[in-house]
Amino acid sequence: MYRAYLEFFEVAETKRRWNMFNDVPWEALDSSTGSEQKAARIEVFCAEELYLPDYSAGGVELTRSIFGASWFQACWSYEESKHGLVFREYLTRSGLRSEAEMAAFEDRVLSKVWRLPFQTRRQMACYGALQEAATFLAYKAQKDRAGSEGDKVLEAIFFFLSRDEAAHAGFYRAAVALELDEDRNGTLADLAFVIANFKMPGDGLIPDYQERLRTTGAGISARTFLEPPSETGGALSPAAAFIDYIVIPRAYVFHAIDASMKITRFHATDDGESRFQEIELPVNQERRDPFGNIMHQSNAFNSPSVRFVELPSNLDQSWHHAPARQIVFVLHGVVEVGTSDNEKRRWGAGSAFIPDDLSGKGHLTRVIEGPAMLAFIELPPGFDFDRWSS
Ligand SMILES: [Fe+2]
Ligand SMILES: [Fe+2]
Repeated sequence: MYRAYLEFFEVAETKRRWNMFNDVPWEALDSSTGSEQKAARIEVFCAEELYLPDYSAGGVELTRSIFGASWFQACWSYEESKHGLVFREYLTRSGLRSEAEMAAFEDRVLSKVWRLPFQTRRQMACYGALQEAATFLAYKAQKDRAGSEGDKVLEAIFFFLSRDEAAHAGFYRAAVALELDEDRNGTLADLAFVIANFKMPGDGLIPDYQERLRTTGAGISARTFLEPPSETGGALSPAAAFIDYIVIPRAYVFHAIDASMKITRFHATDDGESRFQEIELPVNQERRDPFGNIMHQSNAFNSPSVRFVELPSNLDQSWHHAPARQIVFVLHGVVEVGTSDNEKRRWGAGSAFIPDDLSGKGHLTRVIEGPAMLAFIELPPGFDFDRWSS
């Protein structure tokens, strides 16, 4: 842990330090590019960073007996303190918010207290890895957005912040890796528990958090944050909660677990309806390359055809069948499929699903973020899932 912290700190001190007064091009502030929507969006990020006193107190308390971990908390707190500050400065210097408005907003935000969402150090390390990765993705998307809108100031701010968040995620990932070495099964159980109960820190604390994510663009891209399914009235099943919030960290979690790949299949039932089914494919056959590296692979099958397909942004298909039994990999964009029991699933870049309903009522398909680029890998005739996944 000490070594992990030293590596983190060395990069922070030598490559990552930035200065709010000199490194942000405040002179380029253009108040004509401001809008209420933008102000509300930056406010969400600012609010989430405002709970710093609670984050620091909780983190230091939990880690105080572990040298590297508690020193990380101190350094982390310093870096995070700049995040809330720079958002606040942006809002007031740009004229989007007055000092009085900020003070009133801060009062509202801080009237609630953030508490540790998980009780053990190991679970909080899992949470940190996921939460910082999600924040990195959110800020990275905002940096790109500011760049395309020509807001040089915001682009610089999100550049520095997203780089900090990525470094934080990296430290927590290293901490999780150490825990995996020490107690693999226990750590995986914690990781699963944290994923099932994952929420962003401001969710439930910041006034109108979900509403703000939806309406201001702070919820960034459907690729990263997805809305809870409306059929369940916003109440999420534990597995869906994570999938619906964060798609890309989910891929990283699967990578950490590494012994299997989960793919959702949808198929026709005997009574002609359609349903989703989770398939878990072991990726556990060892293969040694000529350089001595050990790789893990799954069973193989021969595909009759492989092709790339681009779906247009506005694609919205009523009930239809899969054109063939195939595995579909999403390369970019987000697609949604609905089955006849009103369930809906979404897949973003890096995920795969198996359309396998050649008869019956079929399924609905919609592009949520497009155009979506997909790879269709056809399954051979008589393909048997049970044999492939055993
Ligand atoms: Fe931050
Ligand atoms: Fe952070």
